[in-house]
Amino acid sequence: MIANVRTEIPGPRSQEILEMSRQFEPRCMSEQVPVVWDHANGAVVTDVDGNTFIDFTSGVLVTNIGHSHPEHVAAVQAQAAELMNSYDFVTPWRAKLAKKLVEITPPSLDRAFILTTGAEAVEAAIKIARKATGRHEVISFHGGFHGRTFGAMAAGGRTGVKRGFGPVLPGFLHAPFPYCYRCPVGAEPANCPLHTTQPLDTLLDTVSCGDVAALITEPYQGGSGSIIPPPGWLKMVFDWCQERDIVFILDEVQSSFGRTGSLFAFEQEGFVPNLVCLGKGIGSGVPISAVVGESRLMDALEPGSLSSTCGGNPLCSRAALTAIEITLREDLAGRARTLGSLVQSRLESLAAESPYLGDVRGSGLVWGLELVECKKSKVPAPQHARAVIDAACKQGLMMIAPIGYHGNVLRLAPPLVIEDECLEEGLDILERAILSL
Ligand SMILES: Cc1ncc(COP(=O)(O)O)c(C=O)c1O
Repeated sequence: MIANVRTEIPGPRSQEILEMSRQFEPRCMSEQVPVVWDHANGAVVTDVDGNTFIDFTSGVLVTNIGHSHPEHVAAVQAQAAELMNSYDFVTPWRAKLAKKLVEITPPSLDRAFILTTGAEAVEAAIKIARKATGRHEVISFHGGFHGRTFGAMAAGGRTGVKRGFGPVLPGFLHAPFPYCYRCPVGAEPANCPLHTTQPLDTLLDTVSCGDVAALITEPYQGGSGSIIPPPGWLKMVFDWCQERDIVFILDEVQSSFGRTGSLFAFEQEGFVPNLVCLGKGIGSGVPISAVVGESRLMDALEPGSLSSTCGGNPLCSRAALTAIEITLREDLAGRARTLGSLVQSRLESLAAESPYLGDVRGSGLVWGLELVECKKSKVPAPQHARAVIDAACKQGLMMIAPIGYHGNVLRLAPPLVIEDECLEEGLDILERAILSL
C-alpha cells in the first residue's frame, strides 16, 4: 500500500501551520483539503505529519514528469549555483528552450516567447494578435478560463473569477461553448446550433464592431468541468477564423506536454493554431510559460514592447528544457494515452454502478467526473463532490477541490509518471469513496 494516513486529517503539525496560514495569508485562494504538503516524489505526496497520499492533482496539472524528478532537481540545483536571472539579456538556456519549443511544434510555429505564468502567456498572445492585425476585438467562450489578470479575465467566461473586481477590458465577445451533458440551448447533439459556427456568425452580425483580431479557446474547458467539445468542433472553428483572417489562439496552458495523450492537444485535432499558449507542464513545477507562434505575427512586436522581469530566466528555462527532454524520452504522452484507457474503463464501470456519477469525460490523464443527485434530473451535487474529496483524502488520495459551473465535478490529473499500481490504488480509493455516498 502506498497511501498511508496515520493521523486525523488535519494532523497536529498540519493544524499548527494551517492556523499560521489563516492568521497571515488572505483567504482568496481555493479551499483545498486541510493537509499541509511537506515533500513529494513521483506521484506520492507526504504531509508534515508523515502521512502519504497518492497524488491525483499534479499540483494543478503542473508536475507532469512527477514531483522532484532527480534530473529536474539536478538541473535546478546546477543552474541556481550558476545564474538565476538576467532579465532580457540572452542566456543559452532561454535560446535553447525557444529552439526546442519550435522544434517540437509544427513548422509554421517558428517563434517561442518565454514568460512566467499562464495568464501572462494569454495576455501576450492577445497583445501579439492585436498588434499584428491592427484590430482589437477578441472572441472567446462562455465557461472559458484563461487566468486571473485583467485581459485573461476578460477573455474568460466564468463569473466567479470576475465577480467584485469591477469592469474588465472591453472588446471581448463571448460565444456559447458546446457542453453536451448540459446543453446551454437544450438541443440534441445531432441538431445543436452550438455544434456549428452559427454562434460565431451571430457575434459578427450583432455585437462585433467589425474589428476582430483573434479568437481564443481552450481545447477542452478545464475549470468549467473538463468540458470536451464534439469531435471536429475545434477544426471547424479554426477554419472559420482562417477564412476571416482572425488569429486562432489555442490556450494549451493546461492541456499540453502529454496531459491529454499527445504532446499538444491540437495534434489530435488535425490543425495547427496560429498562436499557442503554454504553461503548467512546460516547467513541471518551476514557474514558466510560453507563447509559440507564427513569426508573421510574433515579429509584429517591436523591441522593448513586451517582456517581463523573470520571463525566460535561466533557472526556469533550464528546468523546462530538462522537463521537456524527460517528457519526450520517457514518452509520457504515450504513457498518458495507455493509462488513460485504463482510467476510462474503470470510471465507466464506476459510472454504471453509482447512481450519482452522471458523466465521465476526459482523455489521457485528465478526467472530469460530474456528480449529480439523480441521473435523470441531472441536478448538480456539489455536496457529493466535497464528500468524495474529503473521504478520499482520509484514505490517502489527494484530489483537488471540485471544479465546474456548479462545483460538482471531480478532477483527476495524476503526474504522467504515476506507476500502474499507484494509479490502481488511487482509483480503488476513489471508487470506495463514490460508492459509499
Ligand atoms: C487553460 C488555462 N489558461 C490559463 C491559466 C492561467 O495560468 P496561471 O495560473 O499560471 O496564470 C490556467 C490555469 O489554470 C488554465 O488552466
